[in-house]
Amino acid sequence: MANLNAPDLGLVRTTNERFSEVPRPEFQFTPELAAEMAPLYEKVKHVVTPMEWPHYAPLIKAINVMKKERNAVVLAHNYMTPEIFHCVGDFRGDSLQLAREAANVDADVIVQAGVHFMAETSKLMNPNKTVLIPDLEAGCSLASSITAEDVRALREAYPGVPIVTYVNTSAAVKAECDICCTSSNAVKVVESLNAPRVLLIPDEYLAKYVATQTDVEIIAWKGRCEVHERFTASELEALRGDDPGVKIIAHPECPPDVINTADFTGSTAAMINWVKDHQPNKVILVTECSMSSNVAAEAPDVEFVRPCNLCPHMKRISLEKILDSLVYMQNEVTVDPEIAERARRAVERMVNLTN
Ligand code: 13P
Ligand code: SF4
Repeated sequence: MANLNAPDLGLVRTTNERFSEVPRPEFQFTPELAAEMAPLYEKVKHVVTPMEWPHYAPLIKAINVMKKERNAVVLAHNYMTPEIFHCVGDFRGDSLQLAREAANVDADVIVQAGVHFMAETSKLMNPNKTVLIPDLEAGCSLASSITAEDVRALREAYPGVPIVTYVNTSAAVKAECDICCTSSNAVKVVESLNAPRVLLIPDEYLAKYVATQTDVEIIAWKGRCEVHERFTASELEALRGDDPGVKIIAHPECPPDVINTADFTGSTAAMINWVKDHQPNKVILVTECSMSSNVAAEAPDVEFVRPCNLCPHMKRISLEKILDSLVYMQNEVTVDPEIAERARRAVERMVNLTN
């Protein structure tokens, strides 16, 4: 494999290069590289072991070189593993924060370290940029629970009732809806419509949670997040039984009895802020497991109890795949322009409302 330090392998390339022939920058974990990367290791030393770092550090270095080469930024969702989230993510956050950041990106290329609907949203927000996803198979059980045709059938079944779609849907579904929401603004979006009844699709549990926070009648779809639906109130009660002082913080995609057990419910960003603000001795973040590691990296005094559920889609994203997406400029995410125009309206309406 080519070594980027070799003088004949500079990263300046001609425009007619064949991407399959582009050398993938490789670095050795030399003492010099270890020293150069030490400030980054400092950020993750509580959650990345010294055994793991020699594997990650050369890949992180290569990604950071390729980001400059391609004029690219990495948008990293809160569920990325810590070496991605803290070491290659240029912007980090929940779905809403990443959608907002995508709109402001100046760079030519956005690498979405997240799932496919997030990459589509970035493309909607900034259509002139090249949006890459490190693994095209990184989907979402909520996004695949509903189609554009299903939404058109709902329109017919509920004439005049506004349709709010969770951002965890395809662009084609968003194009059929009136406005988007995320877990951080769903109640505000629903109430902004000034309607007595609203369809809130596709997450049944998010819809049920929003119904507890508003007088608007909420009609739900039957989608579920395959990660959050697995948590149970009984497992959390057992953990609280072991330690009555533990704080339980839940994502609104959880089942209602789980949310009832929690001390606080909010989006991934709101959960992180809660921990930073309250600095509990012990906390359970009832959500995707990597988020606990990402917060633990910055809050070493907080003990995280982890009933661990991993999102198989988010976990498809790795340093190796991020590097390859940049080297080969592969896995571009595009949206049909006619669909994009209508879907963008739904996303922008949400962003403008909550700016
Ligand atoms: P957030 O908008 O809270 O980051 O949620 C996205 C998601 O996919 C949760 O499972
Ligand atoms: Fe979708 Fe759930 Fe994974 Fe979030 S955690 S991307 S909602 S499957």
